[in-house]
Amino acid sequence: MTLKVLALGGDGIGPEVVGAALQVLEVASKSIGLPLDISEDALGWTAWERYGTVIRPETLSKAHACDALLVGAVGDPKWDHIVIEGGPEDQDGLMKLRHELQVFACLRWARAHAALLEHTSFKPEVIINTDLIVIRELCGGAMFSPTRGIDESGQSRRAYDLNEYTEAEIERFARVGFEVARRRRKRVLSVDKSNVFIAGKLWREVVDRIGKREFPDVELTHFFADNAAYQLSCRPADFDVILADNLFGDILSDQSAAVSGSLGMLPSACFSHLQEGGRSERPAIYEPVHGSAPDIVGQGIANPCGTILSVAMLFEYSAGEIDCARKIEGAVDAALNSGFATPDIGGDHTTQQITDEVIRQFSRL
Ligand code: IPM
Ligand code: MG
Repeated sequence: MTLKVLALGGDGIGPEVVGAALQVLEVASKSIGLPLDISEDALGWTAWERYGTVIRPETLSKAHACDALLVGAVGDPKWDHIVIEGGPEDQDGLMKLRHELQVFACLRWARAHAALLEHTSFKPEVIINTDLIVIRELCGGAMFSPTRGIDESGQSRRAYDLNEYTEAEIERFARVGFEVARRRRKRVLSVDKSNVFIAGKLWREVVDRIGKREFPDVELTHFFADNAAYQLSCRPADFDVILADNLFGDILSDQSAAVSGSLGMLPSACFSHLQEGGRSERPAIYEPVHGSAPDIVGQGIANPCGTILSVAMLFEYSAGEIDCARKIEGAVDAALNSGFATPDIGGDHTTQQITDEVIRQFSRL
């Protein structure tokens, strides 16, 4: 099998961290004899500047034909004045990819790294051993609702984005969530606001049914989203897998990044379905959780760890190479343990210095 990877650096520091992670991808796949077919393309405002669109149709065709996409980040305040008609999938190249590929399950993995325990805003004893995944529903809810707009007919303008989920959308998402939990510590926390929202009531009912009927071996708890946010900041180490809708998942995944010391540390994997054995048979998107960070572009100091760890997730979920994934994660930890750190995690190393060290550690493991 040849692994087909489409690399989309995107905007800001995106190309810098994707460039770093591709070096790790190449070394790691060589070490296990996995042939790679990598192609690169533009996304976001970089594509806009070159082609007048945030994503070209040929990029979408390439996305459908590959096994995995490695994406950097999108967003550039320089283009804030441009107004593109339509929904988020028309205005944002990454949202378009998520929507087009229907990667509705987005795993965002937050860990307290031993080397960074003193660097976070938590007391080390509160976060030690924290290892949690926020699984965010990525293709539905208010973020992609077609029922959106601004009504200017009244005295006061009225803006709305309908938060809606079908039973089928919640079911397919919950199944992936429970499957991922089965591969971990088998504990799922589902969050909603079923005390207020009807959509939240359906969310809770469906997740509960799927859990009880199909995954009785997985412990399931439900929290209201506000309480989940509070508990997450008090006792993060108690969490394993958190299931959340598109909006709550967006918020809780950034919040959970605090345990790792920097948003720059967090990887993600977004896919639509896991086969037996835990592999995604359709194209999956791997990307760091951080944004395009325009303030540090071109300085060579962007933290590549979130993107390198996304490559580890790529080996696990798109290639079924779990040992290789663990080795990359081990190499990142080893690099951090030997004192390598970009400024966001308290050091003064460059993107390339950390990447070189991760590769050196990988080759030693
Ligand atoms: C994320 C980002 C995006 C989102 C933005 C840039 C549209 O915050 O990936 O979490 O809300 O999904
Ligand atoms: Mg976000």
